[in-house]
Amino acid sequence: MDLLTITRPDDWHLHLRDGEALRDVVLHTARRFGRAVIMPNLKPPVTTVSAALAYRSRIHAALPPDCNFTPLMALYLTDNTPITEVDRAADTDGIIGFKYYPAGATTNSDAGVTDLVRVYPVLERMEERGVPFLVHGEVTDSDVDVFDRERVFIERVAQPLVRRFPQLRLVFEHATTREAVQFVRAQGPKVAATLTPQHLLHNRTDMFRGGLRPHLYCLPVLKREHDREALLDAATSGSSKFFLGTDSAPHARHLKEHACGCAGVYSAHAGIELYAEAFAAVGKLDRLEGFASQFGADFYGLPHNTASLTLRRTDWSPPASYPFAGGELVPYRAGETIGWDIVSGVCT
Ligand code: DOR
Ligand code: ZN
Repeated sequence: MDLLTITRPDDWHLHLRDGEALRDVVLHTARRFGRAVIMPNLKPPVTTVSAALAYRSRIHAALPPDCNFTPLMALYLTDNTPITEVDRAADTDGIIGFKYYPAGATTNSDAGVTDLVRVYPVLERMEERGVPFLVHGEVTDSDVDVFDRERVFIERVAQPLVRRFPQLRLVFEHATTREAVQFVRAQGPKVAATLTPQHLLHNRTDMFRGGLRPHLYCLPVLKREHDREALLDAATSGSSKFFLGTDSAPHARHLKEHACGCAGVYSAHAGIELYAEAFAAVGKLDRLEGFASQFGADFYGLPHNTASLTLRRTDWSPPASYPFAGGELVPYRAGETIGWDIVSGVCT
């Protein structure tokens, strides 16, 4: 099978940034995906419906006028998010849910929630109103090893959370461990997970192969091979609880190749192609469409896209860098090869 046509996919977890950076990256996503959930970890964070709608207008303004791409906006949950904002989100089209960043967990998370228990009244309202809760599933305690942060989060935070709010619609974003896969599988249909291409294609050893590779560093960090196998198994299983979320997260080259490098892998330039590669590697290309174009929309109660996208099995090489906010952005697989490309992109 060298050509694969699927319903136009969606990216359920994406960082677009703002301003010039936004203009430099957004077309990569819009050429491939019909919709994307836009992460709110800007500076300052997007904490209100009105800020999210303003941000959405800036995203639209960065696209060609005939481009049929829909940004779905996530709001940044803080210790001070009022319950009325949940109602506003529930009543506003195009607001997809609230994103939980544990304070200090990752890029621009300083305003994140310090202790989830503090926002339980807000979560209760989200549960009542059916507003999805998008979770960065890591604890930040300094005594917890960085490779254990997701596993400990499941024990200390996620398990009590689903017991307390059994009807809460929860997305375990960028799941990276076998334990996260088990956790999500063990829950009912209200709990799902997104999976990134890098966590399906790499283990943590790859980050150190022949030297330290900053462009493979993201958070949650890559894990062991047995975790990667569990994630790939979940992605290709046909279970509707697992769907596509690239977590493409652009950072300028000099901030990645730095004494204290930023976390984030930029994958939007090949945001569907990389999944095709991962699925093809285990002979499961027939499962790509559900994962990429159906299960996420079903979870969020949205229709499937009507357009289609055709992928072709052929080698190509991403450039060494793309222009990015006056500097450079090093894409995932820069100068190496990717085994799939898109034939019929949109928004050119
Ligand atoms: O690697 C990451 N980069 N993980 C995150 O959670 C945030 C993201 C970013 O915004 O750069
Ligand atoms: Zn992210």
